[in-house]
Amino acid sequence: GPLAPPLKSLADFPIGATGMTGQLDDAVWVAAMRRHVDQITPEWELKPERILQPGFAFDFSASDRMVDWGEEQGLRVFGHCLVWYSQGLDQFTNALPTARFAAEFDRYVSTVAGRYRGRMVGWDVVNEAVAEDGDGLRDCVYARKLGPEAYIVRAFRQARAADPDAVLFLNDYNLENNPRKGATFLRLVERLLAQGAPIGGIGTQSHLDIDIPAGQIRDFFRDAGSLGLPIHVSELDFSMRSDSPVDTRTLGQKRARQVARVGELAEAFMALPARQRFAFTTWGLRDVDSWLLRDEGKGWKDDSPLLLDAEGRANPAFEAVAEAF
Ligand code: XIL
Repeated sequence: GPLAPPLKSLADFPIGATGMTGQLDDAVWVAAMRRHVDQITPEWELKPERILQPGFAFDFSASDRMVDWGEEQGLRVFGHCLVWYSQGLDQFTNALPTARFAAEFDRYVSTVAGRYRGRMVGWDVVNEAVAEDGDGLRDCVYARKLGPEAYIVRAFRQARAADPDAVLFLNDYNLENNPRKGATFLRLVERLLAQGAPIGGIGTQSHLDIDIPAGQIRDFFRDAGSLGLPIHVSELDFSMRSDSPVDTRTLGQKRARQVARVGELAEAFMALPARQRFAFTTWGLRDVDSWLLRDEGKGWKDDSPLLLDAEGRANPAFEAVAEAF
């Protein structure tokens, strides 16, 4: 069938997707990105794991390539992420004396944010700070060494000093899937703002669980919107994989659930005032681009977690998004 209509032409806010250096030579992917998006989030290259090298050295070869490419394509470039408990902590260990730890923490954030000063529309300054189950904050080396909320305020202050223009985000996942985690996240944002953290936006990753009750997504966006900050749907995907061995549903039945939840999210995003619609980003553009099909142990061959199929045709979820926009 025909190619899906350009998604960015259906929206009055930026449409984003991830990209990695390995895709830059994939003509089909490049064409799909040019057709559909006006913003790119490097999926890996701006993470601590990729940049930070032994001895607190920096390797910007991949991140420079991605930021340069995004600019060459005329895309907004969104930075993910400056501080994260996962992927790339080898240098930040408990063994470091706190004074040295704090100095390297500040240097990492200010060096990375400073290098791309004025070139990033926004940054995920801290990623996944809330505990997995939503009961308080995540225990991580930064929390232990610098204080559970103090490290977040510190990171935002360093990022703001290094790049006065980028919109600075606190980003997390399962905020719709787990109402308790969503509430903990929003209360944390309020507390951080009260401590003077220059948070300019909130990022909801939106890796949706298609089996959550109807209305939870709408409720989270309503509560999140009440903070008045721009909201970034930052990592949207909607896997149909279910971990339950007794799931006897047909693909069609799962697809119906998926489309209902994606439509609810798109409608909830559209219910926000336009100034609070920062961007709508999927984590990958086509099904084949998804980490859910690529990463070890996550893949499920029949899964279709994104808006486009491998050839760039609209998946059912695309129609639901297009209708809402
Ligand atoms: C994922 C990448 O897409 C994978 O390629 C990598 O192997 C693991 O990390 N939440 C996040 C992203 O904030 O950084 C993660 O990205 C997906 C979950």
